[in-house]
Amino acid sequence: MDHTIPTKKKPDQVRANTEKKVTGSVAVVGLGYVGLPLAILASERGFRVRGFDVDSRKVHALAEHQAPFLSKEEARQFKETRMEVGDDESILEDADAYIVCVPTPVNEAHEPDLAPLVEASRAVGAYLHKGALVIIESTVDPGACERVALPILERESGLTAERDFFFAHCPERINPGDGTWNVRTIPRVIGGIGKQSLKRAVALYRSLIDAPVKAMASIREAEAVKMVENAFRDVNIAFVNELAMSFSRGGIDLLHVIEGASLKPFGFMPHYPGCGVGGHCIPVDPYYLIRYGHENGFEHRFLAAAREINNDMPRYTVDLLERTLGEAGGGRPLDGSSIALLGLAYKRDVPDLRESPALAIRRILEERGANVRTFDPLVPGESTHVSLELALKDAAAAVIATDHSVFRTLAPEQFEKSGVRIVVDGRNCLSKEAFERSGIAYRGIGR
Ligand SMILES: NC(=O)c1ccc[n+]([C@@H]2O[C@H](COP(=O)([O-])OP(=O)(O)OC[C@H]3O[C@@H](n4cnc5c(N)ncnc54)[C@H](O)[C@@H]3O)[C@@H](O)[C@H]2O)c1
Repeated sequence: MDHTIPTKKKPDQVRANTEKKVTGSVAVVGLGYVGLPLAILASERGFRVRGFDVDSRKVHALAEHQAPFLSKEEARQFKETRMEVGDDESILEDADAYIVCVPTPVNEAHEPDLAPLVEASRAVGAYLHKGALVIIESTVDPGACERVALPILERESGLTAERDFFFAHCPERINPGDGTWNVRTIPRVIGGIGKQSLKRAVALYRSLIDAPVKAMASIREAEAVKMVENAFRDVNIAFVNELAMSFSRGGIDLLHVIEGASLKPFGFMPHYPGCGVGGHCIPVDPYYLIRYGHENGFEHRFLAAAREINNDMPRYTVDLLERTLGEAGGGRPLDGSSIALLGLAYKRDVPDLRESPALAIRRILEERGANVRTFDPLVPGESTHVSLELALKDAAAAVIATDHSVFRTLAPEQFEKSGVRIVVDGRNCLSKEAFERSGIAYRGIGR
């Protein structure tokens, strides 16, 4: 089953930017999933590019053109890219534009952690000069660019925004692993601290990307756009996860229901249930919006409920497994059982473990006494087993936590020949009908 969200347009349908291109030098601060593809693109578009990252090991790897988190196509482009990378702040000297792409995570208590943004702003501020443009791409709550980054830039540089240097926010929308929409083709929104900042930032992005660039009325509105997009995903996924838990009690297959509802040509957009929400964006960004609400005396009850539901899906998945094992054998079914956990990454065909629900599933299984065998071909270092066959061999059950391509084609026979009698498909990526015809007990999320 393909659970890709349908998009309204194809990249070749979006209007190309035809205006006069700007050139010069760009310093990208933070060379991860967001910063590195942008740096590669800037270099391809003729900018002189430097990349700064505080992670020395990563910088050394990048200097050798090693970046396992890039897609195949990006990795190919990276090999042909000329850019200077470094972990020494002096690399920030004298750039025309600074683009900040550092992480904006939450801590254990789900509180936003802006420390990397503070640090990056300090480093850029120390090298900022008259006429330069600073753009924050990192995802932040409305107001944070002006409240956190801007005062540091002004203090460190002794310059004033809009008069001496230019300051804008262009939230990143990249979707790692997406073969269609990428840093070149995704339309962008930009907010500036003033008219000149906005004008220069829009001109820069129109020179970089092929897609439309929309000028927003303020930085706050640009920040809010990104918050809304990701909160929209989170609440809709929470909605279908809640439906999954409810409908499965009455024997309704939610996937069939979503298929039916999707026939309506307007007013419905399918979202799909699963064993949890991961990555650096969807499970993180709503907490930034919740914090924004608190700071303005408002309680985002809906967002908080969505977070709670989605955070609870790994537990629901393990409960589902435990119940199914119990139906088969009774007793304390997880204690001492070998369970194969297939997939550790948070989403299909990427090696990213950040906020992955698979890690929560592993922890809960272990807490309940299971002997967990993990296999993820994209994250071999975290896998206890080097092959699917070895992970499955004589396991009491298998849980699919990531719908990597290699798992999506698994047939009941592959489980049967290893002695696996129960499959919990946390991504609803296998054919329920094929498993029902076999002797294996199959459970999906909401089906
Ligand atoms: N990953 C995504 O899918 C995605 C999509 C859209 C937006 N975003 C947002 O983009 C931002 C970056 O995310 P990412 O996924 O690229 O993170 P990442 O962890 O992959 O990369 C961030 C990089 O910044 C470096 N870094 C940290 N502090 C630094 C500092 N003070 N100076 C220089 N480098 C520093 C880290 O070492 C790391 O290499 C976040 O705000 C995120 O919410 C991410």
